[in-house]
Amino acid sequence: MEIEATALAFINAIKKLNNISEIDLEKSKFLGKSGILTKEFKKLSVLDGENKISEGKRLNAIKNQVEDAINNQIKIAKQLALNKKLKEENVDITLPVNKEFGSLHILSYEIRRIKEEYKAHGFLILDGPEVETEFFNFDALNIPKYHPARQSQDTFYIKDFQDTLLRTQTSCVQIRAMQKNALPLSMISIGKVYRNDQLDATHSPMFHQIEGLVVDNKPINIGNLKDALSKFVAFVFDVDSVSLRFRPSFFPFTEPSMEVDCCYSRENGNIKINKDGNSWLELGGAGMVHPNVFKYCGIDTEPYGFAFGFGLERLVMLKYGINDIRSLYDTDMRILKHYSSIASN
Ligand code: DAH
Repeated sequence: MEIEATALAFINAIKKLNNISEIDLEKSKFLGKSGILTKEFKKLSVLDGENKISEGKRLNAIKNQVEDAINNQIKIAKQLALNKKLKEENVDITLPVNKEFGSLHILSYEIRRIKEEYKAHGFLILDGPEVETEFFNFDALNIPKYHPARQSQDTFYIKDFQDTLLRTQTSCVQIRAMQKNALPLSMISIGKVYRNDQLDATHSPMFHQIEGLVVDNKPINIGNLKDALSKFVAFVFDVDSVSLRFRPSFFPFTEPSMEVDCCYSRENGNIKINKDGNSWLELGGAGMVHPNVFKYCGIDTEPYGFAFGFGLERLVMLKYGINDIRSLYDTDMRILKHYSSIASN
């Protein structure tokens, strides 16, 4: 019975210790290689049969009790140490702060810059929902039911919600704008659009578009569109003037429709927007608003209008000399900081 008494004394002694290394030291005296209890276990080898079994059980019960007491005391000691640390460690609010501030992402920077400029010129700055209906994204834009652009390879449809999709273009904001606002109307909308494209250096399933629309009851012609686009492109690239080229194209919601190119030159491998350059960059689409679109918007006067739609990422990549669209969405702070420092200078 002697070992039980020793164990009890040991447990009582352990309960008085609040320091983990002291507890560990005591533990090794009892349970270590040549500890008191370990020696008792060694004596089992000379016993046989029933005796060996009952003695083994007795020692194991003692071992469990001792181990429980040790583990419990370690927990208490840890908590006490933590409490002490918390009490001692005051936060010194007078220490100098980390003065490194974040900056706007260049896409956000350019979005704000364009919005501010066009707001100052009396344009409405509008947003539309990214989850759209087929009516706004296609029907009202005069895109026929079986047009390939409606097929699922281009459009993300929302499962279980009929006629609902992630908008593939910001042109749907034109419809919402004309339904809500009286003429004359000038608006800019910049937002995200989604297409079922693989992510690579020049494509992303999500990107931004800039949509412009000007409608009036007074005549507006292609000359006005050319003028507006020249000013827009010059503003975006921060140059005095640009030379644009218009190529006939097709969009269901404009007639006539065109593709807009901008004159540039290459200097030291970089693209430079240059009126007297010798090459052309494709920027986006534009045209005179199709009469059917006015009808869908319930405008029954005789309106005139033009519209344009450009990809924001493309403009920003050209402006900053970025050749992989993915670097606009990656979280590599070195790249993001580099471009935002160019933007803010
Ligand atoms: N929505 C067209 C697209 O995503 C771009 C576009 C072309 C917008 C002509 C327009 C426009 O407003 O007039 O490809």
